[in-house]
Amino acid sequence: MNKMVKNLIVAGLALGIANTAFAEEKLKLGFLVKQPEEPWFQTEWAFADKAGQDLNFDVIKIAVPDGEKTLNAIDSLAANGAKGFVICTPDPKLGPAIMAKAKSMDLKVITVDDQFVNAKGNPMTDVPLVMMAATKIGERQGQELYKEMTNRKWDVKETGVLAITADELDTARRRVEGSLSALKAAGFPEAQIFSVPTKANDIPGALDAANSMLVQHPDVKNWLIVGMNDNTVLGGVRATEGQGFKAANVIGIGINGVDAVNELSKTSATGFFGSLLPSPDIHGYKSIQMLNDWVVNGVEPAKFTEVTDVVLITRDNFKVELQKKGL
Ligand code: GLA
Repeated sequence: MNKMVKNLIVAGLALGIANTAFAEEKLKLGFLVKQPEEPWFQTEWAFADKAGQDLNFDVIKIAVPDGEKTLNAIDSLAANGAKGFVICTPDPKLGPAIMAKAKSMDLKVITVDDQFVNAKGNPMTDVPLVMMAATKIGERQGQELYKEMTNRKWDVKETGVLAITADELDTARRRVEGSLSALKAAGFPEAQIFSVPTKANDIPGALDAANSMLVQHPDVKNWLIVGMNDNTVLGGVRATEGQGFKAANVIGIGINGVDAVNELSKTSATGFFGSLLPSPDIHGYKSIQMLNDWVVNGVEPAKFTEVTDVVLITRDNFKVELQKKGL
């Protein structure tokens, strides 16, 4: 090796060491979600990462399926030097505990999707929240169900609405109430609407709930299925299949869109007609962008950011519509 090359290498090494010694460590922000198995939350994570790349911070992604994991996650964020986190809590009632812990560790908090409630059960409106327009999107679900029922020329007298509820989650309650009020406004008879609460916000939970309700109404020929998201409606549809209903006699329309891709990709149609696709991309990107702006520039985030855009995806258009959003 000649001397010049050697010198260059030495100089380069010295520069490299100096760089690491003086370079400021990259900002770290957390993104905690209750149900990482849902593509909805995977999409939020992916777009939070994209914001991190665009704006130069690292995203620490942690699954928080319960209260204990949530509090541990906050400890571990603080230990890793994070300055704040975005969270979709596994239970809105954890709000006060999460805020107390975050404050004691000087971490900033933005909530996404599900709003915290205080000990009295009231929404914690002082914590910034990014969420979908629950009532409006629910109303759209009811309108689209009614429209498809009309397209199929069903006899309303032989039709029932099966609404799978999760009222302790405010966004879920508002979506379902919106859907049922739209159905009633369109003329669907209230006496033929049957509501049943689910014990768990996943397919098996909704399936159990739906089964227990279906057996009570053997006279109903056609079913419209209402629920707060895709998994809830999928559970309802699976229950109708289990009890012998044909796809032609069932219309389920979910909410989330990204969680319905497998179902809509099936070669033959099922009772799951379609899904309302809001904007998990915007939820993920915008919530953590606001957090970054708060930490880096001291910009206080808005207390409430409502994301309103929504599109109905069905077997016919889901690929195109997802592509349009880069999903
Ligand atoms: C709740 C639901 C999720 C998703 C989000 C969207 O958290 O559990 O499936 O619908 O709302 O805001």
